[in-house]
Amino acid sequence: MQLAGKVAIVTGAGSGIGQATAKCFAKEGSAVIAVDWNKETAEKTVAAVRSKGGKAEFCFADVSKAEDVRRTVDTALTSFGALHILVNDAAIQIMAKLTDTTEEMWDQIHAVNLKGVFLGCKYAIPAMIDAGGGSIINIASVLGFVGDPDLAAYCAAKGGVIALTKVAALTYGPQGVRANAICPGDVDTPLVEAYFNKDPDPKRFRQEIYSKYALRRIASPEEIAQVALFLASDASSFITGSTLVVDGGLTVKVY
Ligand SMILES: NC(=O)c1ccc[n+]([C@@H]2O[C@H](COP(=O)([O-])OP(=O)(O)OC[C@H]3O[C@@H](n4cnc5c(N)ncnc54)[C@H](O)[C@@H]3O)[C@@H](O)[C@H]2O)c1
Repeated sequence: MQLAGKVAIVTGAGSGIGQATAKCFAKEGSAVIAVDWNKETAEKTVAAVRSKGGKAEFCFADVSKAEDVRRTVDTALTSFGALHILVNDAAIQIMAKLTDTTEEMWDQIHAVNLKGVFLGCKYAIPAMIDAGGGSIINIASVLGFVGDPDLAAYCAAKGGVIALTKVAALTYGPQGVRANAICPGDVDTPLVEAYFNKDPDPKRFRQEIYSKYALRRIASPEEIAQVALFLASDASSFITGSTLVVDGGLTVKVY
């Protein structure tokens, strides 16, 4: 029980990495506020946690809206009396090359993927300071430090998440708040499944992507959740401002 007595907010808890993280944290003894704009899927996460004896509450929020995000923190405080952990996971992906990216696409991606992380930090940090400290885990991406020609706005937003993580770590470290970013490579979630399915031969395309990894496969959501657990727990008590690359060796090579 690495998170016994803790209270965590996990955004994007209805699917993929967020769902795996919410379940993992609850299993380790944390109460979890499962945040998502998809009520149906996030309520399934809550039901799964409760069926195993864990504590979880659903909180609807569009993470790009300040009032919604403020309510997620209020829900943690009213339901469980404190807030110690925030996982900013919710994000969207719109594929477009830089010159094909419309202003609307750019704004949409940045509203969820970067402003959403900013709002999460903004409202969670005061509550964490009240609790005597806390841990923020921002789910960035390897695409925060390398480029993808088809994901211009997404890459820019993820780079912003890495920088904002360092700012949060530096500013609130003296008050006991740690902030770290996880940079996954591909993770087998609905987001990536949709990407594979865009190819005329998804099975072949999947194998082609696997071959680019030193480990010859992509991650499971649970493997990313385990890293989030490490960053949330006291096992990482001296780690802050870091960017943890969890990519099966995807970005270690030049050729
Ligand atoms: N899957 C990958 O390969 C991969 C790789 C690197 C980084 N990431 C990052 O990991 C995180 C999770 O990705 P995933 O693959 O699990 O995605 P996913 O699409 O499976 O799940 C994302 C969840 O976020 C929710 N969400 C989206 N926008 C929201 C909003 N505005 N407000 C509230 N909820 C919202 C969705 O409803 C969904 O439940 C994202 O930050 C993503 O950028 C994913």
